[in-house]
Amino acid sequence: MSYIYLDHAATTPMHPEVIEEMTRYMREHFGNASSVHRVGREAKHYLNQARDRIAARLHCQPNEIVFTSGGTESDNMALFGAVSYERDRSGKNHIITSQIEHHAILHTCAQLERMGMEVTYVPVDATGRVDVADIEAAIRPETLLISIMYGNNEVGTVQPIREIGTLARARGIRFHVDAVQALGACLFDVSELPVDLMSFSSHKINGPQGVGALYMARSTTVDPLLFGGSQERKRRSGTENIAGILGFAKAVELATDSLDDKIHTTSHLRSTMFQLLQSQLGTERVVLNGHPTECLPHILNVSLLGAPTETMLMNLDMEGIAAASGSACTSGSLETSHVLQAMHLSDEVLQSAVRFSFGLGNTIKDVEFTVQKIATILSRMRK
Ligand SMILES: Cc1ncc(COP(=O)(O)O)c(C=O)c1O
Repeated sequence: MSYIYLDHAATTPMHPEVIEEMTRYMREHFGNASSVHRVGREAKHYLNQARDRIAARLHCQPNEIVFTSGGTESDNMALFGAVSYERDRSGKNHIITSQIEHHAILHTCAQLERMGMEVTYVPVDATGRVDVADIEAAIRPETLLISIMYGNNEVGTVQPIREIGTLARARGIRFHVDAVQALGACLFDVSELPVDLMSFSSHKINGPQGVGALYMARSTTVDPLLFGGSQERKRRSGTENIAGILGFAKAVELATDSLDDKIHTTSHLRSTMFQLLQSQLGTERVVLNGHPTECLPHILNVSLLGAPTETMLMNLDMEGIAAASGSACTSGSLETSHVLQAMHLSDEVLQSAVRFSFGLGNTIKDVEFTVQKIATILSRMRK
């Protein structure tokens, strides 16, 4: 049976050109980029080349990129690294973040609180947007970092990053942005955004899993998370995963090539799905969770009223359709989403939310087929 994959916010299939680039490298090279001999120098050449290619697409300097094992490590490095560096020097002990961040941020903040830091979790409105005024009100003389995600992985809401960054700059506070879901989905240029640290992950953009990057503006220093062989200019020790990093570089190039067109295509899938759901099931049965316009083009979170999330996901899976309840980390246990809870939605809406996320290979036919199956599942459930 063919399978329709509508869970691209969890992870994405690798692009054939990414696989090709990685296998070509792995067939011909294996060196350790720290070795001084020719085999090592060759590996180093590819590592540098990948860094240059990614920097060109993000519009930053190559030495502003630190390769990591993915979004989670980049987020941890930004937070732990900023705290460790700043607390020792200035005695500051306060972080501001939002209630709807990914667990890579929220669980890191919880650990920092156990270590004596203070954290303010700013609320969001019913569409999942933070209010810049709430962030401003939360700032204290001891605030050393603000960390707000670019676009939310569960409901797709995009935050006012530029305004928050401008505020942070004016107050001399570092600003970290988790841009894991925004890369390849939003047009941005890190060189002109008021951002000091930005997290990226390769497997969300058709690259390999286990690779990512932390953008660190030249003016920003954070302590390392990992100590050892001093790779990545002493910022992240450990022998580099060069095949993975090359795959990531290829994925960044593919994701940012004619991004305007890609955004248009994905938005079309998203809006068509929403319109079809409304027309086939009735507007009163379909609730959009998230912001109607300030949103990532590839994420559609809807509550199909009367259909419990778990039952709907199981039925869709049996029909050969992969969707999700929210973030992949919690979807195994189907806990109520902290994001939807923070948006103060009714129980009925909370208990019937499903996330569809679009990407490589998806077509309008997939969307039409999925909506048709949902209608069948719902009428079966009603009987
Ligand atoms: C917004 C966001 N941040 C961080 C992560 C973690 O990234 P990774 O899976 O590369 O560790 C994810 C993954 O779901 C995410 O969506």
